[in-house]
Amino acid sequence: MNRLYSHILVATDGSSFSEAAVCYAMRLAKATGARLTIIHVANVHGYVEVLWHDMRRRYREEGKKVLEEVREHCSIEGIEADTLLEEGAPYLKIVEAARRLNCDLIILGSHGHSGLEKLLLGSVTERVIGISPVPVVVVPPDFKHLKKGKHVHGER
Ligand SMILES: Nc1ncnc2c1ncn2[C@@H]1O[C@H](COP(=O)(O)OP(=O)(O)OP(=O)(O)O)[C@@H](O)[C@H]1O
Ligand SMILES: [Mg+2]
Repeated sequence: MNRLYSHILVATDGSSFSEAAVCYAMRLAKATGARLTIIHVANVHGYVEVLWHDMRRRYREEGKKVLEEVREHCSIEGIEADTLLEEGAPYLKIVEAARRLNCDLIILGSHGHSGLEKLLLGSVTERVIGISPVPVVVVPPDFKHLKKGKHVHGER
């Protein structure tokens, strides 16, 4: 079957900005019948060695929780998404995963946990856009379609 999208990658850092991205990704996956993979990257670099193992464990545990929550949210909406936990520089790992999994679209929030909305875009989103081999969709924060059961745009 010739689909507009066959495999969508949505990136989450667990922020409400990411939640908007996930909502849009679910909507697009439903509309196109595409597979959906949710990626989280544990950003573990930059710690001295004595702290590194602890931080790594903590970041990975937090990442697993974030992914599980998002996977459940998808499942409630009838979408069985895969999850992927990576480690390293988020923008590189997101783009690497998109290549490896043959994703034809990447979806991100405009901002993330740092949430410095005075900047036009967060640095992860900016960098993914800069190097992605496939189209990138950036979802604005107030996009609440399918957000935790609320259908504010009156669809569905
Ligand atoms: N660690 C991560 N794993 C997966 N996706 C991420 C990660 N960090 C950011 N993203 C994705 O990128 C989007 C934008 O986040 P980004 O980190 O660029 O903005 P920010 O946190 O506001 O600013 P910055 O991190 O540059 O200080 C998020 O909504 C999410 O989709
Ligand atoms: Mg960030």
